[in-house]
Amino acid sequence: MEQIIKLIENDLKKLELSIEQLVSTKVGFIKEIVNYIIRSGGKRIRPILVMLSSKLCGYNGEQHITYSAIIEFIHTSTLLHDDVVDNAKTRRGASTANIIWGNEASVLVGDFLYTKSFELMADGDNFEIIKTMAHTTKQLSEGEILELLKTSDISTSEEEYFEIIRNKTAVLFSVACEIGAILSNIDEEKRLALKEYGQNLGMAFQLTDDILDYNSYDEVLGKKVGTDLKEGKITLPLIIAMNATTEKEKAVIKRVVEKSSITLKDFEKVSAIIKKYDGIKYTSDKAMQYTNAAKDCLKIFEPSPFKDALLELPEYVHKRKT
Ligand code: IPE
Ligand code: IPE
Ligand code: MG
Ligand code: MG
Repeated sequence: MEQIIKLIENDLKKLELSIEQLVSTKVGFIKEIVNYIIRSGGKRIRPILVMLSSKLCGYNGEQHITYSAIIEFIHTSTLLHDDVVDNAKTRRGASTANIIWGNEASVLVGDFLYTKSFELMADGDNFEIIKTMAHTTKQLSEGEILELLKTSDISTSEEEYFEIIRNKTAVLFSVACEIGAILSNIDEEKRLALKEYGQNLGMAFQLTDDILDYNSYDEVLGKKVGTDLKEGKITLPLIIAMNATTEKEKAVIKRVVEKSSITLKDFEKVSAIIKKYDGIKYTSDKAMQYTNAAKDCLKIFEPSPFKDALLELPEYVHKRKT
């Protein structure tokens, strides 16, 4: 990852400046919350995708910086909303905005970032990007709502799970890559290849996130491990266990999933069942399949340092610890 960051070091610096400049609003309160969450870190993986895909397609201008910032705003907006829905207390190693300022403020500032993003895109005057982003953000909402509907539903199928993560996560990765192609007016075949690369990478990213929610430590992850189980989010490791488990174990899982607050013992019990039925391994294998599929999509591109970086990202996404 260090090498990738080095390759686009200047762009990443410009991104931080751009983020600062673009969140202009006369309402100081909005700035306070936005600065808090944006400054608290974040891996900037989606902006990195915009940058690398733009460079891969030979883009020479500066507009990709603005679009990188817009993608990060949209991502931040979904995090503000998601932390309200998930009752999350920590993110990026700090208290969530909903804990500090409350749910109402988080939802409204999330809305501000969404609408600000579209205002910025309108200024950019690239209809193809506006159209693609409008479609994508609608899908993001659908994904989060689909997930909400499946809360605590232990009959959630693998297929339904994949539909949820494609919508809530993968489409934003996908559009981040597509922006590079659109900005450089590259041919349709390459645009589609980048779109698919991002989609596969995003799937692997969320699969890994769902593993980490069972398998990491709060201090490493910067968010609370076990939140999915506590909130009744039925992710792939649990679905795999549910499909294989005994009636007795099923009853244990059902009881914990339906509880509003769970103990460490509950978490450990369910984790042990998941482990017994290889739920983590299965999920990790799936993530690996998606990372391989992502790499395959890049075959049609000529060799370049940017292609190498995009080929390396899937490894990082699969092995990431945070
Ligand atoms: C968190 O995304 C939301 C998911 C899609 C899992 P990131 O893990 O990219 O969050 P930051 O921006 O690095 O904090
Ligand atoms: C990703 O799902 C949510 C979004 C796409 C906003 P999660 O709920 O697993 O994300 P984290 O774990 O809270 O970051
Ligand atoms: Mg969440
Ligand atoms: Mg998660």
